[in-house]
Amino acid sequence: MCQKILITSPIYYVNDIPHIGHAYTTILCDMLKKFHQLQGNDVKFLTGTDEHGQKIEQSAKKNNQNPQSYADIISMRFKKIWDSFALDYDIFVRTTDTKHCLSVQKAFEIMYAKGDIYKGSYEGHYCISCETFFTQTQLSANNTCPDCGKPTQIVQEESYFFALSKYQDKLLEWYKSHSDFILPQFRQNEVIKFISEGLNDLSITRTSFEWGVPLPERFTHSSDKKHIVYVWLDALLSYISGLGYAQDNESDMAYWDYALHFVGKDILRFHAVYWLAFLMSLELPLPKHIYAHGWWTKDGAKMSKSIGNVINPKEVVDAYGIESLRYFLLREMPFGQDGDFSQKAFIERINAELGNDVGNLLNRLIGMSEKYFALKVDSTQVEKYFVSELNELRHIIAQAVEKMSSMQPHRYIEELWKAFSLGNSVITQYEPWNLMKSAQTDKAMALLGLIANILAQSSLLLYPIMPQSASKIAHALDFEINAQNYEKLIKQGQLLDTFKLNKIPPLFPRIESPLLAESPTNTKENAQNKNTSEKIGLVDIKDFGKLDIRVGTIIECTPVPKSEKLLKLMVDIGESQPRQILSGIAQYYTPQSLINKQVCLIINLKAAKLMGEISEGMILASKDTNGLSLLSVDNPRINGSPIS
Ligand code: MSP
Repeated sequence: MCQKILITSPIYYVNDIPHIGHAYTTILCDMLKKFHQLQGNDVKFLTGTDEHGQKIEQSAKKNNQNPQSYADIISMRFKKIWDSFALDYDIFVRTTDTKHCLSVQKAFEIMYAKGDIYKGSYEGHYCISCETFFTQTQLSANNTCPDCGKPTQIVQEESYFFALSKYQDKLLEWYKSHSDFILPQFRQNEVIKFISEGLNDLSITRTSFEWGVPLPERFTHSSDKKHIVYVWLDALLSYISGLGYAQDNESDMAYWDYALHFVGKDILRFHAVYWLAFLMSLELPLPKHIYAHGWWTKDGAKMSKSIGNVINPKEVVDAYGIESLRYFLLREMPFGQDGDFSQKAFIERINAELGNDVGNLLNRLIGMSEKYFALKVDSTQVEKYFVSELNELRHIIAQAVEKMSSMQPHRYIEELWKAFSLGNSVITQYEPWNLMKSAQTDKAMALLGLIANILAQSSLLLYPIMPQSASKIAHALDFEINAQNYEKLIKQGQLLDTFKLNKIPPLFPRIESPLLAESPTNTKENAQNKNTSEKIGLVDIKDFGKLDIRVGTIIECTPVPKSEKLLKLMVDIGESQPRQILSGIAQYYTPQSLINKQVCLIINLKAAKLMGEISEGMILASKDTNGLSLLSVDNPRINGSPIS
């Protein structure tokens, strides 16, 4: 059944330009939108900018701008960056939009009419950076903010209050009956603890500055003070104002019946406590889930403007492309925990996981199918020859879907990679070239059909993670990524119809060296390290990284005529053709003893000619007074697996 679904990112403060944390949440939303669209659902993705409050007013002043034109500039930067990353949002709310302000005022009226808002006066500590009030007991040492550590200021003003305490029991009941409302679940326990400790009523208006939504007329007339709405009430209401709440056209409010929020762990409380209570007061349905993610650090350190190590997502995308950034962010960070952004880890994942595991698999399929069957792929005999492999594939796919449903995108990706590994391992196991040699053409065709189906199903599920790459794989396999094919291939488990492969350029070219300049602090450190290491003869890790060392299986081995030392080896390294390598090991191994042995070899040495034969790599070995021994791996690896 087609379900209307709303997916929201937080709306971002306009006091700063977009950074990697903002990009992460927005990418998560885009990912989930695509996942639900594949299931045939009608999804809207809402994002936007949070433009009111004292923090923005101050930033504008610092930049010699009035708050509105300052907000206009930064809001546009957010919009532009999401457009340039092809992030497919449907609704972009700006809290300075007239329509939004109207929704906020109407909501205030409704809550007031219900008896949930009353006038009082507030005296307490306020953190401008977090736009949050704190009681004395909540503060850290020297009256600093318990969340961000910055100094708070004492605020004493007349204020309207929201009767949050009235909702304490209702909130606890809600959490009791919705145990997986917040994912990951451990975050829900934190929220329950916070509520159980007692909720104070919440000050929801300010009078000491002007940059905010004014209260409806009748509230401002009744007093000489001008009240504006507290920025968090204003901002949270953007999730429904963007759907037309309390406006002339409310038709999009149908999406509110199934709302999913992504938030960072630092703003969970506002959503999991205040927002739910506001919604209860407005008698609107509560969201279906709140997904709370962790924070990104850079090379193990907190990102901060003063250290100068904040990652600008645009620079990463300019250097590596949006697809690689999406993959890295979604794969590296276990959802809900903190993750570290390092360029080294980034490159390793691209080269090993995208280049080797996926790119090579597709290349090998295209290469072999071109050589043996003029690019034709026929799946009709796959069930006959490879029933257990197909069952394994179905199991992996089902697991992956389950992981996304429980909001574990990193595990979802892990499952997909099990499918790619299956594709690589059936090549090693069944050796299509030998099937062809021994005239088992049907089985060879079925094997290539199996690989094509593994790639087709995995690419459908890869689409939410890397939409462009997944679509390219689908194009190579001559089908389209859409809900119909998801239904057919994933839900009904049908196999691909007979088709001809389209040849496409390599999907994930290898990255040989970092493409991004490191932040100034790192560069300085590196320079210092370089001087010391050069003195003591050490090499940089980057030098080691230049060597492409892989695991491979020797599939043929013959003596080289007229040479006592050399053997000619054909080594399967996961490419469509085995590599020919000449190795000076004839005095230590007989050709027969090497067949099917897994070895380690450097595959990016310049080709050399030895005794008239080309050698395209070097097998690694260790030699001592007892002789020579080839390097191998402790447990069998898929051919082509990198060594690092
Ligand atoms: N305006 C509020 C949200 C209102 S939603 C009704 C706000 N804005 S923000 O721009 O400061 O932060 C937006 C999001 O960015 C938050 O979810 C926050 O967790 C996230 N991140 C900020 N720094 C981050 C990292 N270093 N890593 C990951 N996410 C981070 O809060």
